[in-house]
Amino acid sequence: MQPHLSRFGHKMSQLTGVRAIMKDIIETMRSGGQWVNLSPGNPLILPEVEAMWRQYTAKLLASKDFGEVVGRYGASQGYGPLIDAVVEFFNSTYKWGISAENVLITPGSQALYFYAANTFGGYDPHGRLRKILLPLSPDYTGYGGVALTEESLLALKPNIDVTGPHRFKYRPDFDSLKVDDTIGAVLFSRPANPTGNVLTDDEVRAIVQVAASEEVPVFIDSAYAAPFPDLVYTDMTPIYAPNVIHCMSLSKAGLPGERVGIAIGAAPYIEALESFQTNAAIHSSRFGQALAAEAIRSGDLLRLSQTVINPFYRRKAELLTAAFEEHLPADLPWFLHEAEGAIFAWLWLDQLPITDQELYQRIKAHHVFVVPGAPFFPGLKEEWPHKRQCLRISLTATEDELRIGAAVIGQVLTEVYAGSSR
Ligand SMILES: Cc1ncc(COP(=O)(O)O)c(C=O)c1O
Repeated sequence: MQPHLSRFGHKMSQLTGVRAIMKDIIETMRSGGQWVNLSPGNPLILPEVEAMWRQYTAKLLASKDFGEVVGRYGASQGYGPLIDAVVEFFNSTYKWGISAENVLITPGSQALYFYAANTFGGYDPHGRLRKILLPLSPDYTGYGGVALTEESLLALKPNIDVTGPHRFKYRPDFDSLKVDDTIGAVLFSRPANPTGNVLTDDEVRAIVQVAASEEVPVFIDSAYAAPFPDLVYTDMTPIYAPNVIHCMSLSKAGLPGERVGIAIGAAPYIEALESFQTNAAIHSSRFGQALAAEAIRSGDLLRLSQTVINPFYRRKAELLTAAFEEHLPADLPWFLHEAEGAIFAWLWLDQLPITDQELYQRIKAHHVFVVPGAPFFPGLKEEWPHKRQCLRISLTATEDELRIGAAVIGQVLTEVYAGSSR
Protein backbone atom coordinates (compact mmCIF):
# COMPACT_ATOMS: atom_id res chain seq x y z
CA MET A 1 0.00 0.00 0.00
CA GLN A 2 1.24 3.50 -0.83
CA PRO A 3 -0.14 5.91 1.79
CA HIS A 4 -1.17 9.32 0.46
CA LEU A 5 1.24 11.61 2.22
CA SER A 6 0.99 15.35 2.56
CA ARG A 7 3.95 17.53 1.59
CA PHE A 8 4.96 17.58 5.27
CA GLY A 9 4.28 13.85 5.57
CA HIS A 10 6.53 13.23 2.63
CA LYS A 11 9.27 15.41 4.08
CA MET A 12 9.08 13.79 7.51
CA SER A 13 9.05 10.22 6.17
CA GLN A 14 12.52 10.69 4.63
CA LEU A 15 15.55 9.74 6.69
CA THR A 16 18.45 12.17 6.74
CA GLY A 17 21.65 11.05 5.00
CA VAL A 18 23.51 9.74 7.99
CA ARG A 19 20.65 7.43 9.02
CA ALA A 20 20.97 5.61 5.68
CA ILE A 21 24.67 4.99 6.43
CA MET A 22 23.83 3.79 9.96
CA LYS A 23 21.34 1.32 8.46
CA ASP A 24 24.06 -0.06 6.17
CA ILE A 25 26.43 -0.38 9.14
CA ILE A 26 23.92 -2.20 11.34
CA GLU A 27 22.91 -4.61 8.56
CA THR A 28 26.53 -5.34 7.62
CA MET A 29 27.55 -5.99 11.23
CA ARG A 30 24.59 -8.32 11.67
CA SER A 31 25.94 -10.47 8.84
CA GLY A 32 28.78 -11.48 11.20
CA GLY A 33 32.56 -11.14 11.43
CA GLN A 34 34.77 -8.81 13.42
CA TRP A 35 34.23 -5.10 12.83
CA VAL A 36 35.79 -1.96 14.18
CA ASN A 37 32.96 0.53 14.40
CA LEU A 38 34.07 4.16 14.46
CA SER A 39 30.65 5.48 13.48
CA PRO A 40 28.34 5.71 16.51
CA GLY A 41 26.87 9.00 17.64
CA ASN A 42 25.48 7.19 20.67
CA PRO A 43 27.50 8.08 23.79
CA LEU A 44 28.97 5.30 25.93
CA ILE A 45 27.57 4.31 29.30
CA LEU A 46 30.19 5.41 31.83
CA PRO A 47 29.83 3.41 35.08
CA GLU A 48 30.12 6.37 37.50
CA VAL A 49 27.55 8.33 35.55
CA GLU A 50 25.18 5.40 35.30
CA ALA A 51 25.55 4.85 39.06
CA MET A 52 24.50 8.43 39.72
CA TRP A 53 21.34 8.12 37.60
CA ARG A 54 20.60 4.78 39.30
CA GLN A 55 20.98 6.39 42.71
CA TYR A 56 18.54 9.19 41.87
CA THR A 57 16.14 6.68 40.32
CA ALA A 58 16.11 4.67 43.58
CA LYS A 59 15.56 7.88 45.52
CA LEU A 60 12.65 8.89 43.30
CA LEU A 61 11.03 5.43 43.48
CA ALA A 62 11.13 5.63 47.28
CA SER A 63 9.94 9.20 47.53
CA LYS A 64 6.43 10.52 48.08
CA ASP A 65 6.76 12.47 44.79
CA PHE A 66 6.81 9.33 42.66
CA GLY A 67 3.03 9.12 42.14
CA GLU A 68 2.82 12.80 41.29
CA VAL A 69 5.72 12.50 38.81
CA VAL A 70 4.48 9.54 36.78
CA GLY A 71 0.78 9.44 37.60
CA ARG A 72 -0.34 12.89 36.53
CA TYR A 73 -0.01 15.24 33.59
CA GLY A 74 2.07 18.32 34.30
CA ALA A 75 2.73 21.75 32.85
CA SER A 76 3.90 21.95 29.21
CA GLN A 77 6.78 24.13 30.30
CA GLY A 78 8.31 21.32 32.33
CA TYR A 79 8.55 19.82 35.80
CA GLY A 80 8.69 22.62 38.38
CA PRO A 81 11.61 21.33 40.49
CA LEU A 82 13.77 20.92 37.34
CA ILE A 83 12.94 24.44 36.13
CA ASP A 84 13.81 25.79 39.60
CA ALA A 85 17.09 23.84 39.65
CA VAL A 86 18.05 25.22 36.21
CA VAL A 87 17.22 28.80 37.23
CA GLU A 88 19.18 28.52 40.44
CA PHE A 89 22.18 26.88 38.76
CA PHE A 90 22.54 29.39 35.91
CA ASN A 91 22.00 32.38 38.17
CA SER A 92 24.54 31.26 40.74
CA THR A 93 27.12 29.97 38.22
CA TYR A 94 26.84 32.44 35.34
CA LYS A 95 24.82 35.33 36.86
CA TRP A 96 22.33 35.21 33.97
CA GLY A 97 19.52 36.70 36.05
CA ILE A 98 16.88 34.33 34.66
CA SER A 99 13.58 33.24 36.21
CA ALA A 100 11.21 30.34 35.62
CA GLU A 101 9.56 32.06 32.63
CA ASN A 102 12.90 31.80 30.79
CA VAL A 103 13.07 27.99 30.85
CA LEU A 104 11.40 25.29 28.76
CA ILE A 105 11.96 21.54 29.07
CA THR A 106 11.52 19.47 25.89
CA PRO A 107 11.64 15.73 25.13
CA GLY A 108 15.29 15.87 24.09
CA SER A 109 16.85 18.81 22.30
CA GLN A 110 16.10 17.44 18.81
CA ALA A 111 12.43 18.24 19.51
CA LEU A 112 13.44 21.75 20.52
CA TYR A 113 15.13 22.35 17.13
CA PHE A 114 12.06 20.99 15.38
CA TYR A 115 9.85 23.43 17.29
CA ALA A 116 12.29 26.28 16.64
CA ALA A 117 12.76 25.60 12.93
CA ASN A 118 9.01 25.64 12.35
CA THR A 119 8.05 28.39 14.79
CA PHE A 120 10.58 30.89 13.44
CA GLY A 121 11.26 29.44 9.97
CA GLY A 122 8.93 28.81 7.03
CA TYR A 123 6.29 31.10 5.50
CA ASP A 124 5.09 33.99 7.66
CA PRO A 125 1.43 35.12 7.69
CA HIS A 126 2.21 37.41 4.70
CA GLY A 127 3.53 34.48 2.68
CA ARG A 128 7.17 35.54 2.98
CA LEU A 129 9.75 32.85 3.57
CA ARG A 130 11.84 33.18 6.71
CA LYS A 131 14.92 31.02 6.71
CA ILE A 132 16.78 29.11 9.39
CA LEU A 133 20.38 30.16 9.00
CA LEU A 134 23.19 27.74 9.87
CA PRO A 135 26.15 30.14 9.94
CA LEU A 136 28.91 27.54 9.92
CA SER A 137 28.59 24.47 7.72
CA PRO A 138 29.30 21.57 8.31
CA ASP A 139 27.02 21.12 11.29
CA TYR A 140 24.73 18.57 12.97
CA THR A 141 23.14 16.33 10.34
CA GLY A 142 19.91 16.26 12.37
CA TYR A 143 19.21 19.89 11.40
CA GLY A 144 18.55 18.54 7.90
CA GLY A 145 15.33 16.94 9.12
CA VAL A 146 13.81 19.63 11.33
CA ALA A 147 12.45 22.21 8.87
CA LEU A 148 9.04 21.23 7.47
CA THR A 149 9.53 23.87 4.79
CA GLU A 150 12.53 22.35 3.12
CA GLU A 151 13.60 25.53 1.33
CA SER A 152 13.86 27.36 4.66
CA LEU A 153 17.20 25.79 5.63
CA LEU A 154 20.21 27.87 4.57
CA ALA A 155 23.79 27.04 5.53
CA LEU A 156 26.88 29.16 4.92
CA LYS A 157 30.19 27.90 3.65
CA PRO A 158 32.96 28.40 6.24
CA ASN A 159 36.43 29.82 5.90
CA ILE A 160 39.14 27.22 6.37
CA ASP A 161 41.96 28.19 8.65
CA VAL A 162 44.97 25.87 8.38
CA THR A 163 46.25 26.05 11.94
CA GLY A 164 49.35 23.85 11.66
CA PRO A 165 50.81 20.88 9.82
CA HIS A 166 47.82 18.56 9.23
CA ARG A 167 45.52 20.73 11.37
CA PHE A 168 42.67 23.08 10.50
CA LYS A 169 39.69 24.90 11.95
CA TYR A 170 36.48 26.17 10.37
CA ARG A 171 35.68 29.83 10.94
CA PRO A 172 32.49 31.70 10.14
CA ASP A 173 32.66 33.80 6.97
CA PHE A 174 31.45 37.13 8.31
CA ASP A 175 31.48 38.64 4.81
CA SER A 176 28.61 36.36 3.80
CA LEU A 177 26.83 36.41 7.17
CA LYS A 178 23.90 38.74 6.55
CA VAL A 179 20.85 38.68 8.80
CA ASP A 180 17.87 40.61 7.45
CA ASP A 181 14.10 40.12 7.52
CA THR A 182 14.39 36.97 5.38
CA ILE A 183 16.00 35.15 8.34
CA GLY A 184 13.74 33.70 11.07
CA ALA A 185 16.40 32.21 13.35
CA VAL A 186 20.09 31.33 13.51
CA LEU A 187 21.18 27.89 14.70
CA PHE A 188 24.53 26.23 15.33
CA SER A 189 26.08 23.61 17.59
CA ARG A 190 28.91 24.60 19.96
CA PRO A 191 30.89 22.33 20.36
CA ALA A 192 29.91 21.12 16.91
CA ASN A 193 28.89 17.68 15.82
CA PRO A 194 30.59 16.48 13.55
CA THR A 195 33.74 18.60 13.65
CA GLY A 196 34.55 19.16 17.33
CA ASN A 197 34.81 22.86 16.51
CA VAL A 198 34.06 25.36 19.25
CA LEU A 199 33.19 28.79 17.89
CA THR A 200 35.18 31.29 19.95
CA ASP A 201 33.39 33.60 22.39
CA ASP A 202 34.15 36.53 20.06
CA GLU A 203 32.75 34.70 17.03
CA VAL A 204 29.56 33.87 18.93
CA ARG A 205 29.16 37.43 20.17
CA ALA A 206 29.62 38.74 16.62
CA ILE A 207 26.94 36.37 15.24
CA VAL A 208 24.57 37.25 18.09
CA GLN A 209 25.09 40.96 17.45
CA VAL A 210 24.40 40.67 13.69
CA ALA A 211 21.16 38.81 14.48
CA ALA A 212 20.18 41.23 17.27
CA SER A 213 20.00 44.11 14.81
CA GLU A 214 16.97 42.36 13.23
CA GLU A 215 15.65 40.89 16.50
CA VAL A 216 16.36 37.40 15.17
CA PRO A 217 16.77 34.65 17.81
CA VAL A 218 20.01 32.66 17.90
CA PHE A 219 19.72 29.04 19.05
CA ILE A 220 23.04 27.87 20.46
CA ASP A 221 22.95 24.08 20.51
CA SER A 222 25.03 23.27 23.56
CA ALA A 223 24.45 19.49 23.55
CA TYR A 224 28.19 18.98 24.25
CA ALA A 225 28.98 22.21 26.06
CA ALA A 226 29.79 23.26 29.63
CA PRO A 227 28.38 23.04 32.25
CA PHE A 228 27.07 19.54 31.41
CA PRO A 229 28.18 17.31 29.78
CA ASP A 230 31.25 19.58 29.56
CA LEU A 231 32.73 17.91 26.49
CA VAL A 232 34.94 20.91 25.87
CA TYR A 233 38.73 20.79 25.51
CA THR A 234 39.37 24.49 24.95
CA ASP A 235 38.32 27.79 26.54
CA MET A 236 34.67 28.65 26.05
CA THR A 237 32.00 30.55 27.95
CA PRO A 238 28.29 29.87 27.50
CA ILE A 239 26.94 33.12 26.05
CA TYR A 240 23.57 34.58 26.90
CA ALA A 241 21.89 37.68 25.44
CA PRO A 242 18.32 38.92 24.90
CA ASN A 243 18.14 37.18 21.49
CA VAL A 244 20.01 33.99 22.52
CA ILE A 245 18.22 30.73 23.27
CA HIS A 246 20.75 28.60 25.11
CA CYS A 247 19.83 24.97 24.34
CA MET A 248 21.04 22.01 26.33
CA SER A 249 20.62 18.26 26.39
CA LEU A 250 21.22 15.63 29.05
CA SER A 251 21.78 12.98 26.37
CA LYS A 252 25.57 13.20 26.47
CA ALA A 253 25.46 13.29 30.28
CA GLY A 254 24.19 9.73 30.49
CA LEU A 255 20.45 10.22 29.99
CA PRO A 256 19.67 9.94 26.25
CA GLY A 257 16.90 7.42 26.86
CA GLU A 258 14.97 9.79 29.11
CA ARG A 259 14.87 12.58 26.50
CA VAL A 260 15.58 15.76 28.44
CA GLY A 261 16.27 18.99 26.52
CA ILE A 262 16.46 22.41 28.16
CA ALA A 263 15.98 25.83 26.53
CA ILE A 264 16.84 29.09 28.28
CA GLY A 265 15.78 32.32 26.61
CA ALA A 266 13.67 35.46 26.69
CA ALA A 267 10.08 34.80 27.75
CA PRO A 268 8.39 35.62 24.40
CA TYR A 269 10.55 33.04 22.60
CA ILE A 270 10.01 30.46 25.35
CA GLU A 271 6.23 31.01 25.29
CA ALA A 272 6.05 30.49 21.52
CA LEU A 273 8.08 27.28 21.78
CA GLU A 274 6.03 26.08 24.75
CA SER A 275 2.76 26.46 22.82
CA PHE A 276 4.27 24.46 19.96
CA GLN A 277 5.16 21.77 22.49
CA THR A 278 1.64 21.76 23.99
CA ASN A 279 0.23 21.09 20.52
CA ALA A 280 2.83 18.51 19.55
CA ALA A 281 3.53 16.51 22.70
CA ILE A 282 1.80 18.13 25.76
CA HIS A 283 5.01 17.81 27.75
CA SER A 284 8.22 15.91 28.17
CA SER A 285 8.33 12.73 30.29
CA ARG A 286 8.53 13.77 33.93
CA PHE A 287 10.55 10.80 35.18
CA GLY A 288 13.83 11.91 33.58
CA GLN A 289 13.09 15.50 34.52
CA ALA A 290 12.71 14.54 38.18
CA LEU A 291 16.06 12.71 38.13
CA ALA A 292 17.71 15.69 36.42
CA ALA A 293 16.34 18.11 39.00
CA GLU A 294 18.09 16.22 41.80
CA ALA A 295 21.33 15.69 39.89
CA ILE A 296 21.61 19.39 39.03
CA ARG A 297 20.59 20.62 42.48
CA SER A 298 23.06 18.36 44.30
CA GLY A 299 25.98 19.36 42.05
CA ASP A 300 26.58 15.70 41.12
CA LEU A 301 25.88 16.24 37.43
CA LEU A 302 28.38 19.09 37.24
CA ARG A 303 30.99 17.17 39.22
CA LEU A 304 30.74 14.00 37.11
CA SER A 305 30.72 16.00 33.89
CA GLN A 306 34.00 17.62 34.89
CA THR A 307 35.71 14.65 36.52
CA VAL A 308 34.45 11.67 34.48
CA ILE A 309 32.80 12.57 31.17
CA ASN A 310 35.22 15.28 30.07
CA PRO A 311 38.48 13.40 30.85
CA PHE A 312 37.17 10.20 29.27
CA TYR A 313 36.55 11.72 25.84
CA ARG A 314 39.44 14.19 26.03
CA ARG A 315 41.84 11.27 26.42
CA LYS A 316 40.26 9.54 23.41
CA ALA A 317 40.66 12.69 21.33
CA GLU A 318 44.35 12.93 22.28
CA LEU A 319 44.92 9.25 21.58
CA LEU A 320 43.29 9.42 18.15
CA THR A 321 45.26 12.55 17.24
CA ALA A 322 48.49 10.70 18.12
CA ALA A 323 47.37 7.63 16.15
CA PHE A 324 46.71 9.75 13.06
CA GLU A 325 50.15 11.35 13.39
CA GLU A 326 51.65 7.88 13.50
CA HIS A 327 49.66 6.20 10.74
CA LEU A 328 48.64 8.87 8.21
CA PRO A 329 51.47 9.59 5.72
CA ALA A 330 53.08 12.97 6.37
CA ASP A 331 53.29 13.74 2.64
CA LEU A 332 49.54 13.44 2.04
CA PRO A 333 47.23 16.46 2.37
CA TRP A 334 45.20 15.24 5.35
CA PHE A 335 43.96 17.73 7.91
CA LEU A 336 42.42 16.93 11.27
CA HIS A 337 40.02 19.49 12.69
CA GLU A 338 41.26 21.04 15.95
CA ALA A 339 39.86 18.76 18.68
CA GLU A 340 38.07 21.37 20.79
CA GLY A 341 35.04 19.42 21.98
CA ALA A 342 32.28 16.82 21.45
CA ILE A 343 32.82 13.10 20.84
CA PHE A 344 34.07 13.06 17.26
CA ALA A 345 37.16 13.64 15.15
CA TRP A 346 36.77 15.21 11.70
CA LEU A 347 39.24 14.51 8.94
CA TRP A 348 39.52 16.60 5.77
CA LEU A 349 41.32 14.94 2.86
CA ASP A 350 42.22 17.68 0.44
CA GLN A 351 42.19 16.74 -3.28
CA LEU A 352 40.80 13.31 -2.40
CA PRO A 353 40.77 11.41 -5.73
CA ILE A 354 37.52 9.53 -4.87
CA THR A 355 34.31 10.57 -3.09
CA ASP A 356 33.79 10.29 0.66
CA GLN A 357 31.20 7.57 -0.04
CA GLU A 358 33.74 5.54 -2.05
CA LEU A 359 36.30 6.08 0.69
CA TYR A 360 33.75 4.79 3.22
CA GLN A 361 33.39 1.62 1.09
CA ARG A 362 37.17 1.19 0.75
CA ILE A 363 37.63 1.48 4.53
CA LYS A 364 34.66 -0.82 5.12
CA ALA A 365 36.39 -3.46 2.98
CA HIS A 366 38.98 -3.60 5.82
CA HIS A 367 36.17 -4.16 8.36
CA VAL A 368 36.30 -0.63 9.74
CA PHE A 369 33.31 1.73 9.72
CA VAL A 370 33.61 5.51 9.63
CA VAL A 371 30.97 8.03 8.56
CA PRO A 372 31.33 9.83 5.20
CA GLY A 373 31.13 13.60 5.62
CA ALA A 374 28.60 14.68 2.98
CA PRO A 375 25.44 14.35 5.17
CA PHE A 376 26.87 16.94 7.58
CA PHE A 377 26.31 19.86 5.23
CA PRO A 378 22.52 20.28 5.58
CA GLY A 379 21.25 23.45 3.93
CA LEU A 380 24.47 24.07 1.96
CA LYS A 381 23.09 24.00 -1.57
CA GLU A 382 26.13 25.00 -3.58
CA GLU A 383 28.51 22.46 -5.02
CA TRP A 384 31.77 22.43 -3.10
CA PRO A 385 34.36 19.61 -3.51
CA HIS A 386 35.15 19.86 0.22
CA LYS A 387 31.72 18.32 0.98
CA ARG A 388 32.98 15.04 -0.50
CA GLN A 389 36.42 15.10 1.15
CA CYS A 390 35.66 14.52 4.83
CA LEU A 391 35.13 11.70 7.33
CA ARG A 392 33.70 11.63 10.86
CA ILE A 393 35.29 9.26 13.38
CA SER A 394 33.59 8.59 16.70
CA LEU A 395 35.52 8.71 19.96
CA THR A 396 33.17 6.14 21.49
CA ALA A 397 35.37 3.28 20.23
CA THR A 398 37.92 1.61 22.49
CA GLU A 399 41.53 2.79 22.46
CA ASP A 400 42.60 -0.33 20.53
CA GLU A 401 39.84 0.20 17.98
CA LEU A 402 40.88 3.82 17.48
CA ARG A 403 44.48 2.71 16.81
CA ILE A 404 43.36 -0.02 14.38
CA GLY A 405 41.03 2.42 12.66
CA ALA A 406 43.77 5.02 12.22
CA ALA A 407 46.12 2.38 10.76
CA VAL A 408 43.49 1.21 8.28
CA ILE A 409 42.61 4.77 7.24
CA GLY A 410 46.33 5.48 6.74
CA GLN A 411 46.74 2.37 4.57
CA VAL A 412 43.65 3.10 2.45
CA LEU A 413 44.63 6.75 1.95
CA THR A 414 48.11 5.71 0.79
CA GLU A 415 46.54 3.44 -1.84
CA VAL A 416 43.89 5.96 -2.89
CA TYR A 417 46.26 8.89 -3.37
CA ALA A 418 48.91 6.64 -5.03
CA GLY A 419 46.28 5.67 -7.63
CA SER A 420 45.75 9.30 -8.61
CA SER A 421 47.95 11.54 -10.72
CA ARG A 422 48.25 14.07 -7.94
C1 LIG B 1 24.74 18.68 18.09
C2 LIG B 1 23.56 17.87 18.52
N1 LIG B 1 22.42 18.50 18.80
C3 LIG B 1 21.33 17.84 19.19
C4 LIG B 1 21.32 16.46 19.28
C5 LIG B 1 20.07 15.77 19.70
O1 LIG B 1 20.19 15.34 21.01
P1 LIG B 1 18.95 15.01 21.97
O2 LIG B 1 17.68 15.12 21.17
O3 LIG B 1 19.19 13.63 22.44
O4 LIG B 1 18.99 16.04 23.06
C6 LIG B 1 22.50 15.74 19.00
C7 LIG B 1 22.51 14.28 19.08
O5 LIG B 1 23.45 13.62 18.79
C8 LIG B 1 23.63 16.47 18.60
O6 LIG B 1 24.78 15.85 18.30
